[in-house]
Amino acid sequence: MEQPSSLPQIPVPSVPSATTKRNNSPRVANGSTSIKYEDLNFQFIPEESKYEKLTKIGQGTFGEVFKARDRKTKKLVAMKKVLMENEKEGFPITALREIKILQLLRHENVLNLVEICRTRATPYNRGMSTFYMVSDFAEHDLAGLLSNTHVRFSLGEIKKIMQQLLNGLYFIHENKILHRDLKAANILITKHGVLKLADFGLARAWSKPQRSAQNKYTNRVVTLWYRPPELLLGERNYGPIIDLWGAGCIMAELWTRTPIMQGKTEQNQMFLICQLCGSITTDVWPNVDKYDLFTQMELPTGQKRKVKDRLKAYVKDQYALDLIDKLLVLDPSKRYDADTALNHDFFWTEPEPIDLAETLSKHTTSMFEYLAPPRRGVQQGHRPNPNQANMHRPVHNNDQHFDQVY
Ligand SMILES: Nc1ncnc2c1ncn2[C@@H]1O[C@H](COP(=O)(O)OP(=O)(O)O)[C@@H](O)[C@H]1O
Ligand SMILES: [Mg+2]
Repeated sequence: MEQPSSLPQIPVPSVPSATTKRNNSPRVANGSTSIKYEDLNFQFIPEESKYEKLTKIGQGTFGEVFKARDRKTKKLVAMKKVLMENEKEGFPITALREIKILQLLRHENVLNLVEICRTRATPYNRGMSTFYMVSDFAEHDLAGLLSNTHVRFSLGEIKKIMQQLLNGLYFIHENKILHRDLKAANILITKHGVLKLADFGLARAWSKPQRSAQNKYTNRVVTLWYRPPELLLGERNYGPIIDLWGAGCIMAELWTRTPIMQGKTEQNQMFLICQLCGSITTDVWPNVDKYDLFTQMELPTGQKRKVKDRLKAYVKDQYALDLIDKLLVLDPSKRYDADTALNHDFFWTEPEPIDLAETLSKHTTSMFEYLAPPRRGVQQGHRPNPNQANMHRPVHNNDQHFDQVY
């Protein structure tokens, strides 16, 4: 077990939700989406020079990530740069939210945030520091591992990966946090085989709406290929179950080694979902007609559900096929949650979950999506920006072709 590291408490002002309008958010300095960093108490924040940067390991949509070493303790860490490009002055609210959420979550299967550090403020940078989120270093991410054909996981090892993924999800959901960007690149695995949910850049706190009230969260979240059908149909009153769709996609990917539904547009993504999970009707999903987009989007009709049929060439285990089938359920109210999934026979029949440490010990170089050659059929991630207007792209009819990429 890891010892929780002592993270200096940053007095983070309360963070408005993504749906908060810019000009009526009283706690945000200047009425913008950033906070003046002079307003924060930075006396606990060490300088970047405390760490020695070693290599660049990630270039996400929102910034660079470096492998680094604490000069004193020699401990390896990852440093994720907080992007300040669009901030004239101040600390981006999205980064504050990510930090606040990571500070709250302490679990074996959630990435441990060590601290925030900063560059020295000099006249050259007009007295403005750059900030880094410092976290424990993990040797691999799942996208990197899956892109390496030399890495082969046994059924027991796949069970261990899924069990840890669902344990992490169970924990964050118990703590009323939605991840909202599950995908292989955001799942880290240490050389000891411990899985860590990472990248809480799109995460948010969730609360169950009171009686007839409805939450109005943005639905422009989750990388397109892992986005559940209810978000594609415009749902804004959603909860933890949206993350379980992504868990289902990732579970299948552990065998196919490439994302199973690589849509090019939102419309095309829905099309691929229907190709795999069957047509969306009020029979399989009562009340689905409440969404305007259900009638506005052009959706295939008469499609049979083929989840097990199409995946059986890759997934030989019946229990595994059944659990994928229970996660990739169109109607979110019938989709398995993390707890139910953890109780599925898949985890409780032979072979039992097996530690990954031995398999990983054969691979001494780190595997990250950033460093790996593109996976088969994979072009781009389509990570959404939830700060964009909550608008749907127009529906095009001419992109209904689909590529079966696995
Ligand atoms: N603690 C860490 N240890 C190892 N690699 C990491 C760590 N944090 C991030 N990375 C790598 O950097 C990539 C980008 O980081 P992430 O937190 O996902 O940011 P982004 O918002 O840019 O996607 C990850 O996919 C992973 O490969
Ligand atoms: Mg990421």
